[in-house]
Amino acid sequence: MDAKFPEVVMPKCPAIQLLKGQKAMVTGANSGIGRAVAVALGHAGADVIVNYVVNREEAEEVCEEIRHCGSSAKAILADVADEQQVQDMFREAIDTFATIDILVNNAGIQRDAPFDEMTLDQWRKVIDVNLTGQFLCAREAIREFKRRGVNQEVSCSAGKIICMSSVHELVPWAGHVNYAASKGGVMLMMKSIAQEVAPYRIRVNSIGPGAIRTPINRSAWETKEAYDKLMELVPYKRIGEPEDIARAAVWLASDEADYINGTTLFIDGGMTLYPGFTENG
Ligand code: BGC
Repeated sequence: MDAKFPEVVMPKCPAIQLLKGQKAMVTGANSGIGRAVAVALGHAGADVIVNYVVNREEAEEVCEEIRHCGSSAKAILADVADEQQVQDMFREAIDTFATIDILVNNAGIQRDAPFDEMTLDQWRKVIDVNLTGQFLCAREAIREFKRRGVNQEVSCSAGKIICMSSVHELVPWAGHVNYAASKGGVMLMMKSIAQEVAPYRIRVNSIGPGAIRTPINRSAWETKEAYDKLMELVPYKRIGEPEDIARAAVWLASDEADYINGTTLFIDGGMTLYPGFTENG
């Protein structure tokens, strides 16, 4: 490896608390991207609801990390695909923090299979969590944002939603048809909600991560062979870290990004640049 181009160069974290006084909820926040986002929002000054559906201990660890820097945090168990559980979670969150200013619709799963072997259960599970789950949480958040309106002391907008999408809202993915369909759905759901609620000064955007080092894609980075193969898809020649997503989420949720509405920010080291065309076509 050329010393001038080391494999991983992480930018320094910002010291300014961009989200001071805001109340956030992150779904699927006990691990992976959700965990890093919850911690980063907390470190940026937001109080955070840490949603999880399994692994309470992990969720409590995330809360501890958030409290360490002075913000409040509460772990709440809820399956985002269950309407009642989502409504109960929002009620508890609002009882705890009085309101919610930021929702990060992050919880997501994969159930991969060749298309002709994909079961209805695999199809439904992925659509239920990745798409219906985002719908249910976004709906509760929008209800709260509309009820409260703008509180200028806290933010110049009435609320922000960040949907965790994927490069696969754009890039077709053989063997993962349920997942790509769910993320394609998230894209137009996000844009349509954004169009509908923009007059209320509510911002709705997505982040489209590429290959990020998390448990969901362990097999794609765990071995050297797998990692080298993955890098054929990444012009920037390093895997993404959850913190790469977390820093952008803080900014996108902040008033620094106030005029950004209805768009997807791809954070993918160039994966959506069609790297197959670099020396082809
Ligand atoms: C998937 C990962 C995959 C990445 C890039 C993500 O949305 O969850 O498994 O590595 O897209 O293909």
